[in-house]
Amino acid sequence: MRYLTGLQPSGQLHIGNYFGAILPAVLLQEKGEAFYFIANYHAMTTMGSSRMLRDNTRGLAVDFLACGLDPKKAVFFTQSSVPEVNELAWILSVVCPMGLLERCHSYKEKMARGIAASHALFAYPVLMAADILLYNSDAVPVGKDQKQHLEVTRDLAGKMNEAFGELFKLPEPVINESTAVVPGLDGQKMSKSYGNTLPIFGEEKELRKLINKKIVTDATPLEAPKSTEKSIILTLYKLFASSEDYDRMVQQHLAGGVGYGQFKKDLFEAYWEYFRHAREKREWLLANPGYVDDVLTTGAVRAREEAGKTLARVRRAVGLAWE
Ligand code: ADP
Ligand code: TRP
Repeated sequence: MRYLTGLQPSGQLHIGNYFGAILPAVLLQEKGEAFYFIANYHAMTTMGSSRMLRDNTRGLAVDFLACGLDPKKAVFFTQSSVPEVNELAWILSVVCPMGLLERCHSYKEKMARGIAASHALFAYPVLMAADILLYNSDAVPVGKDQKQHLEVTRDLAGKMNEAFGELFKLPEPVINESTAVVPGLDGQKMSKSYGNTLPIFGEEKELRKLINKKIVTDATPLEAPKSTEKSIILTLYKLFASSEDYDRMVQQHLAGGVGYGQFKKDLFEAYWEYFRHAREKREWLLANPGYVDDVLTTGAVRAREEAGKTLARVRRAVGLAWE
């Protein structure tokens, strides 16, 4: 079973990204052959500055490795280190009806947010289909928002097979419905667009302050019982604490006598401890940039090998090559 997924280098990772995307990917590398890449071509559709694109790409490589991506188990590379993907995207775009792309929510949603409607933004799902089909992926772990792009991919694979013979298998999306949406510090979905995130990595003092000052609580007095359903602190604490510690905090909510200040302190300690190992690993990676470059270079060689085979087959099938 080959799993493939791409993550956009769009800035500082938060714990929503961790529980929704990074951790599932790290767990899947044990279960099959994993191809994971940093979608820097895609990020160009929304990122203005070259420095930001470069820094975020390197930053994501470091953070993903720090969070447990094992380059001995997963093939890890940047999307742009395999330029073959652009040729496949072109070929797929030949069989792609305009209407298919016009229906995509993500494009409409980005335009509504004021992002300029470029050709790249419109063609984004075709490049994503090329990412997936180039590596003969069986299964693609993605967030719910990407489900429609997987449908486009399957559609395009089907059209290619119909027109040129069996070229591609149809990849399955792996959408973990049970991965609860991680709430942000204000209780809405955690998202960098809402400015309500808790980063995975950062300065201790700043993060402690973020938890203390930004998590929204109600005005229940210290002595009174507190709602367990509405407690953002409790929902976040569950992600990091042992089940005994979590149960204890539930009891303390129900019984009263413990204030939100103490709960926030407990949350910070559990969160800080949870990422201790990843933080140490990250320090090491930041001090050894050569290692990160080597991992990405090795990954790119392996990915290109696979890409080259697929592309040769496709070029022959569509009439671009004849030996
Ligand atoms: P953001 O909303 O901060 O812009 P992205 O859309 O870049 O995050 O998401 C990258 C990955 O992280 C996706 O797989 C997405 O499903 C996952 N993810 C983002 N926010 C959350 C969240 N609050 N809870 C669970 N998963 C999330
Ligand atoms: N579009 C995906 C996102 O924004 C990133 C991505 C690009 C991707 N290519 C992919 C995900 C291929 C899975 C497979 O999250």
